Amino acid sequence: MKALPVGDVCLNCHGPADTLDAGLKNALTTTYPHDQATGYVKGQIRGALTVKRPL
Ligand code: HEC
Repeated sequence: MKALPVGDVCLNCHGPADTLDAGLKNALTTTYPHDQATGYVKGQIRGALTVKRPL
């Protein structure tokens, strides 16, 4: 299991709304009208990834 922290690349799409690229904002509004996943800052933990495999 591994934590999923917000890194620089994530901020391109999940950063504060006023820092997002205008074209991206437009795409998010049309494709994901209910998106609430913005306003994060670097280092915040967004979740965790797990891998399971049969032994
Ligand atoms: C190219 C744009 C883009 C980038 C870069 C990106 N995401 Fe996302 N992410 C999205 C979109 C779009 C969704 C779907 C939002 C929705 O369904 O409302 C999403 C959904 C998520 C979700 C699930 C929804 C939620 O808010 O819980 C998580 C967690 C997430 N992203 C984490 C990350 C992390 C961590 C990174 C960096 C490693 C990252 N994302 C990079 C666009 C992006």
